[in-house]
Amino acid sequence: THRYAVFGHPVAHSLSPRIHAAFARQTGVTLEYTAIDSAPHDFVAALDRFVGAGGVGANVTLPLKEAAFAICARTSERAQRAGAVNTLSWNDGQWYGDNTDGIGLVRDLTGRNALDLRGRRAVLLGAGGAARGVAPALLDAGVAELVIVNRSPERADALADALGDPERAHSRYWKDLEQLGDFGLVINATSAGRGQIDASAFDLPFALTTPRTLAVDLNYGEAAIPFLAWAKAAGCHDAVDGLGMLVEQAAVAFEEWHGISPDADAVYAALRRKDD
Ligand code: ATR
Repeated sequence: THRYAVFGHPVAHSLSPRIHAAFARQTGVTLEYTAIDSAPHDFVAALDRFVGAGGVGANVTLPLKEAAFAICARTSERAQRAGAVNTLSWNDGQWYGDNTDGIGLVRDLTGRNALDLRGRRAVLLGAGGAARGVAPALLDAGVAELVIVNRSPERADALADALGDPERAHSRYWKDLEQLGDFGLVINATSAGRGQIDASAFDLPFALTTPRTLAVDLNYGEAAIPFLAWAKAAGCHDAVDGLGMLVEQAAVAFEEWHGISPDADAVYAALRRKDD
């Protein structure tokens, strides 16, 4: 049996093992997929142990996506643009890294939710691994402008620089959120809603929104509640959590590893029923 895993810290509540197991049942693929908790300082050693035990592929979640990028011998173009990796494949004794988060998000929004991203002004809250993963795909999907706002401004600057599209993608200060105008797309890529919820982070100005705004949280489950509550209070037209993105990024990774495209909709529907 080929071994796969998701690495994160924390990782116990990750849905990825369930999603990949469901895809495997659908497609008749035999695999073992577990969750491995790895602190950042132990990540390289944990991956070595995993390979030693027969590991051939891994997903990577917070806060390890940038570290995963750094350990790869080769990376896809979209991983390079993100500077972050969420999908690792062991090939010829080396890690190959890809990032399926951005395509996963865009498939969820434009496919499942039938929303058009083209021409929207977008504000991306956060500049960590999750934000890096989705930013290039948002530009590719045709947003008019991508304003990156992060609590620590240097990380926002670094992401804007890495995107290399100064006409459309630039950074602004969190303290200036009131002054940025309104947006057709507001994305929460911060981790402020996870674990010890920092309510002050969701004290966002309603001036960011209009009645047509699409608000997206890359988190799902309880971690998405504070931002989605803000979006509803602000009167946003749509408020979408990250569950669909999670399933879609997993489907792209599954196809990369196994050469078979799974039925993401069926798995999404089953998870959403449990969530409700
Ligand atoms: P991930 O892989 O989920 O992106 P990460 O790389 O640790 O995880 O990034 C977490 C993001 O959430 C960062 O943008 C972080 O801001 P800083 O770079 O300033 O740390 C953001 N974040 C976390 N807690 C926050 C809070 N209370 N308010 C605003 N932003 C917060």
